[in-house]
Amino acid sequence: MRYFILSSVIFLILSCNSDKTNTKQMNTIINKTSFGSTPYGAADLYTLNNANGIEVAITNYGGIVQAIRVPDKNGKMGDIVMGFDSIDGYLSTHPYFGAIIGRYGNRIAKGKFSIDSVEYSLATNNGQNHLHGGVKGFDKVLWDAEIIEGDNGEVLSLDYISENMEEGYPGNLNVNVQYELDSKNQLKITYKAKTNKATHINLTNHSYFNLKGSGDILSHELMVNADNYTPVDSTLIPTGEIANVKGTPFDFAKPTAIGTHINDENEQIKFGGGFDHNYVLNTHTIKDVIAKVFEPTTGRVIEVFTSEPGVQFYTGNFLDGTIKGKGELTYNYRSGLCLETQHFPDSPNKSNFPSTLLKPGEDYETSTIYKFSVSKN
Ligand code: GLA
Repeated sequence: MRYFILSSVIFLILSCNSDKTNTKQMNTIINKTSFGSTPYGAADLYTLNNANGIEVAITNYGGIVQAIRVPDKNGKMGDIVMGFDSIDGYLSTHPYFGAIIGRYGNRIAKGKFSIDSVEYSLATNNGQNHLHGGVKGFDKVLWDAEIIEGDNGEVLSLDYISENMEEGYPGNLNVNVQYELDSKNQLKITYKAKTNKATHINLTNHSYFNLKGSGDILSHELMVNADNYTPVDSTLIPTGEIANVKGTPFDFAKPTAIGTHINDENEQIKFGGGFDHNYVLNTHTIKDVIAKVFEPTTGRVIEVFTSEPGVQFYTGNFLDGTIKGKGELTYNYRSGLCLETQHFPDSPNKSNFPSTLLKPGEDYETSTIYKFSVSKN
């Protein structure tokens, strides 16, 4: 027994030392600074730094990814997400830059669904439909933040309790979102939740990427591993049809510049004002790349992996130059692209779509990885 205690102590001392000498340098560290005040309390900015110099800044207001700084093919660092330099921008009206979206990412037709014959009415904040969790979704709340230790160093863990009937949704929902940056330059977001009453849930992140840092995203090349997508009506609610992308502007099976077909004469393109559609992914195991974006002038690449069955590809069609973002940059039409991994829009009202129902006793858990790299071609 004495020998066991002694050897355990020696082991502990050795592992603490090795922690300081090598693992600390290899692993991600998180630096916390103040990000200003919100009506709900003080917000902080957590900057995740990995050993390769990649930096991801996240605020606990809305769980917003405020900056992602990565190198281009010449090693020049640049910020590849849209947003604001200070909290004030995020407190004003903006199109969900970088935020956690919940309780339900995307649209629910007429803001209504029924569970066990009880009809629930949500806010109709997008014409006649419900969008991104309502008037005050998870993007506009202050999350409880904690820095925890993970396999690759420090992890940012955010918690929020969404109360029964908040924005019209049933059930107290305990939500946990974790952001982890590893040494392979992968930003992994893990979403977990539990409810005490059956509810619908569909969490995602709404980062707008621009791998050049400014200008439009039309020359970015995109691949989406999906044979099908979900066409919409004029209010962007899926018709319920699962349609093949072959021979349509929606075919990104092979890497294609986003601008190639964005203005095609096509009813779906017209409804979206460009691309604003959910893809039905061919695979969603978190091991396979579901989407890849490459920007030729900088060589920057993002690969997306997810456990979700769908991804909303949105080309910033509602950006109109009225918002001034980071560094006084004007955010013009189509100057950012979103790849919102998710369940399909309006799933609560579409029995042929994968279910978004979460019942008491069940664990909601999904994850998405954005992997950053450079390529010469
Ligand atoms: C989502 C929607 C778009 C738009 C943006 C926010 O991506 O699908 O139609 O509402 O959010 O502006």
